[in-house]
Amino acid sequence: PRSVTRGADGALAVAGLSVRDIAAEFGTPVYVLDEADLRSRCRDFRAAFPTEDVYYAGKAFLCRAVVRMIAEEGLHLDVCTGGELATALSAGMPPERIGFHGNNKSAAELSRALDAGVGRIIVDSFTEIDRLTALARERGVRPRVLVRVTVGVEAHTHEFIATAHEDQKFGFSLAGGAAANAAFKILDEGVLELRGLHSHIGSQIFDASGFEVSARRVLALQSQIRDARGVELPELDLGGGFGIAYTTQDDPATPQDLAKRLRKIVDSECAAENLAVPHLSIEPGRAIVGPSVFTLYEVGTVKNLDGLRTYVSVDGGMSDNIRTALYDASYSATVASRASGAEPMLARVVGKHCESGDIVVKDEFLPADVQPGDLVAVPGTGAYCRSMASNYNHVPRPPVIAVRDGQARLIVRRETEEDLLALDVG
Ligand code: LLP
Repeated sequence: PRSVTRGADGALAVAGLSVRDIAAEFGTPVYVLDEADLRSRCRDFRAAFPTEDVYYAGKAFLCRAVVRMIAEEGLHLDVCTGGELATALSAGMPPERIGFHGNNKSAAELSRALDAGVGRIIVDSFTEIDRLTALARERGVRPRVLVRVTVGVEAHTHEFIATAHEDQKFGFSLAGGAAANAAFKILDEGVLELRGLHSHIGSQIFDASGFEVSARRVLALQSQIRDARGVELPELDLGGGFGIAYTTQDDPATPQDLAKRLRKIVDSECAAENLAVPHLSIEPGRAIVGPSVFTLYEVGTVKNLDGLRTYVSVDGGMSDNIRTALYDASYSATVASRASGAEPMLARVVGKHCESGDIVVKDEFLPADVQPGDLVAVPGTGAYCRSMASNYNHVPRPPVIAVRDGQARLIVRRETEEDLLALDVG
């Protein structure tokens, strides 16, 4: 986070609060959210996309306090399950600012969304269109929908592949004609209000040209719909996926750069297709919350395998950050509780789980005198860490605290053994 400094005692401080005080008050592991940092990232996106809508993708990390923060900062919210929707509503997110995603929304979830009056539903299959149409008819309502289009662009970090066909579960295929047929079906039936098209091409993307190809492809469909049905769809959502720097090698685009490029391609394609420029929206998750959080662990053991490697075990692991094991993701780590003049030593930061793949940080230079009791901070853990946390090995999931102006506030409490046992009714 932006407000991390090293204090006179050598310990890291976030927004003026020492990690030693955080560990003493809340224990470890703990996710530490720098609230000013999160809010400033929301503002950066709002400033870069002032006339567009920015939907925070709640799957990255969602709790009531964060819903309130992003709502106060003028963002919209993307949810993709009944659970995320319930969290959003219970935090008072205005329903008209919620977009509801998902490739298999149940009738119960759709009913709840309709009854709450969510602003839009991104439909993902013909089955869902029929399901939603029936529920809307029953209620006499006309929900606003977007059609999720599979544009045949697959983006992974520093590269993207543009293909004609895409083999994946999400959305309606563009190349196969399903996307056009979905739009025609909705327009012809007239029960749902078709507001526009949606595409999402991947996550942790650095090469913005993937968005340009995708925008070009959806806008071609937009003009096909106009030609066939005489309707110009008023909205376009280009999804999320904007990359963040996990290590010093990553160099993400700023929201301003992204906005400029997206607007430019949309404007020029619309001019070429003779379309009115639709109202744009985007759905960043990771880029909003990822960099605002670090995980604070305590070192429990240091094992030096002579000539091979040093394993530094911390008191969490793959249950609070599955990304290294699952995606081979790269993180960094630093000794946070003190300064050290010791030589740097190549270390692997591992967790406490019964599995050798339980790695938090594959390779990191830590001071050679790292020892049990030291606190270690792993930055960039705001997105897809707490939200994908598990209770593997019956390890209670860590709390999340929000730090602001030197004050810490618990926003998600630590799970307890009682919580774990509460579900065990046998
Ligand atoms: N919109 C849609 C429709 C999405 O499916 C996603 C992410 C987003 C927006 C937000 O993407 P973001 O801006 O956060 O990259 N668990 C994986 C990431 C899965 C992303 C799923 N969809 C990870 O930890 O890298």
